Amino acid sequence: MSAPFDHLLEATIDHLKREKARGVKYVQVDESSLAALSQAAPQPAKSAPAAGVPSIARPKRPSLPSTPQQPRARATAQPSPVQPSTPAPSPSRISREEKETAMAQLRERAMACQKCPGLVAARQNVVFGVGDIHSPLMFVGEAPGADEDRQGEPFVGKAGQLLTKIIKTMGYSRETVYIGNILKCRPDTPGQEWGNRKPTPEEMDTCKPYVISQIDIIQPKVIVALGATAVQGLLGETQGITRLRGNWTEFRGVPVMPTFHPSYLLRQDDLGTKRKVWEDMLQVLERLGAPISDKQRGFFLKK
Ligand code: URA
Repeated sequence: MSAPFDHLLEATIDHLKREKARGVKYVQVDESSLAALSQAAPQPAKSAPAAGVPSIARPKRPSLPSTPQQPRARATAQPSPVQPSTPAPSPSRISREEKETAMAQLRERAMACQKCPGLVAARQNVVFGVGDIHSPLMFVGEAPGADEDRQGEPFVGKAGQLLTKIIKTMGYSRETVYIGNILKCRPDTPGQEWGNRKPTPEEMDTCKPYVISQIDIIQPKVIVALGATAVQGLLGETQGITRLRGNWTEFRGVPVMPTFHPSYLLRQDDLGTKRKVWEDMLQVLERLGAPISDKQRGFFLKK
């Protein structure tokens, strides 16, 4: 099934659910729309799917979770009905155009999201994500801070500048990887003009379908989860990042490398911690099959 078709289908279902909630019992669909819909529907597979590949004609597709549902108050936010379970999306042969269309549609929905009224009221921008959606490498952080909220781009503040440096040292650039967050809006700090706060588990659950969809569309070869909150948001894993970092795990079939958040690195600022992050990045490069120079291997090693 094509991703644009999935997204259209999900948007239609969401729309119908909203209509139903408003008390609408019937919708009118003219003949030409019906004909167009039946043509757009994917045909059942003719041959048996390869081992381990889900059937094309599956009725429910967990891989591209529907995004926004009803607007929901933060206080009453419930985990999304589409649970980000571990099953991997089908290894679809999604074309570049399909990816671009799907991501553009997802972005549009995220930009208009009203699910957390507190965050909506406080935000200046929805911080959707940035970079190359065809990249094999995706970084996932926790949530935008003040700088990101102002500029509408993830990781542009001090921690972001350090992340950019790490990415460059790996041989990539911000333009050749994809960078996103679990939360697309800055966690509000009512009553104070400054500072950041950690996203709540409810906020992360509410926003998680967006990052899941981003992952499913991008289908990166590796995800780097930045910091304990990102790991918790993505994997529900509450063990400390000190324990988790450096050890491969998996999310929706994609290898995930947890590592320290760049803001932790800024606070620590010692060679040992920097080296640990760098070792994690070397593992990432190895997994990607990217070339690693002797100079890169030697970074942050005491002479
Ligand atoms: N920290 C994050 O986790 N994400 C950002 O975008 C900025 C800082």
